Amino acid sequence: MVKNQAGFSSMTATKLPVNQDKVIPTASDKFVLTSYVEEIVKRALSYLEAGYPVHFAGPAGTGKTTLAFHVAASIGRPVTLVHGNDEFGSSDLVGRDAGYSKKQIVDNFIHSVVKREEEMMQLWVDNRLTSACRNGDTLIYDEFNRSRPEANNVLLSVLSEGVLNLPGLRHMGEGYLGVHPEFHAIFTSNPEEYAGTHKAQDALMDRMVTIKLDHLDLETEIEIVTKQSGIERSDAQRIVRIMRTLRKAKKNKFKTTIRSAIAIAKVLARSGGQACWDNISFRRTCYDLFNIVTANASVNETMRKEQVINEVIRKACSVNLVKLEKN
Ligand SMILES: Nc1ncnc2c1ncn2[C@@H]1O[C@H](COP(=O)(O)OP(=O)(O)O)[C@@H](O)[C@H]1O
Ligand SMILES: [Mg+2]
Repeated sequence: MVKNQAGFSSMTATKLPVNQDKVIPTASDKFVLTSYVEEIVKRALSYLEAGYPVHFAGPAGTGKTTLAFHVAASIGRPVTLVHGNDEFGSSDLVGRDAGYSKKQIVDNFIHSVVKREEEMMQLWVDNRLTSACRNGDTLIYDEFNRSRPEANNVLLSVLSEGVLNLPGLRHMGEGYLGVHPEFHAIFTSNPEEYAGTHKAQDALMDRMVTIKLDHLDLETEIEIVTKQSGIERSDAQRIVRIMRTLRKAKKNKFKTTIRSAIAIAKVLARSGGQACWDNISFRRTCYDLFNIVTANASVNETMRKEQVINEVIRKACSVNLVKLEKN
């Protein structure tokens, strides 16, 4: 068993026999279910139960993949996981011809007569979408807009007519596969302007219910940082406060996704001490994790941004924590 970032246990494909390429998600004690998360989970489940695929869209670090796993675990069916990939063709989703198998019978019953019979059979290997549709799994297609739109076209008839078109199996009389009634699909995507993503075709977007996600709310961020790192809640509050203030900084761009806050908290948990101004190693960790250092950033520019981070740390560490919760 391995754990994914979201804290769900999942079996890796390598640990399973070849044809059981499944993830079995089970809830973890690190998962945070605040009222914010619960409301989104309920909404998503209501759409899926009504037969509609759900699509979590939002920038990195807004909890899309974690939510997809949690919702899939709540459905209670095995999960098939696919990661969007620019090099995908539709056969990477559906399956492909895997060549021919040849059977030869040599009949030499009468020693002077040799009879040979040959049979050629075309082999077909299902890929993940096909096996999910066949078996009624929940498909998580993570960051599906990293795949080119033409690779995802095969999903159109799956999502609207409940039919998977398998031209490669037509010769075996299996050109169409009726989708299992328990099949569900959950998609995640980053906004189109993200590097390496494509604009999804309108027809596909029209067949799913999109839930737009923005950064998690304050309470959820504090809970996640506390649970994922094991630090004191008061320290998590300060780290989250610093991150949220930097997020609003108009002039400068900082790396302020929840991943940075979790990483700072994990480092603090290992090195000891508190999230406070006097803790120099904490301040250094904040510079390293919040600052976006580009290859061509000048020393002056980097130092100027560290000064901004310093000011924010100083303020966050002097503020009353009860007041802080209300911001
Ligand atoms: N509800 C949650 N409970 C616990 N951890 C969470 C939760 N939502 C997000 N996280 C954590 O926040 C980080 C980013 O979440 P992730 O789902 O990977 O975001 P995205 O897919 O939008 O980039 C991960 O480390 C994940 O474990
Ligand atoms: Mg993700």
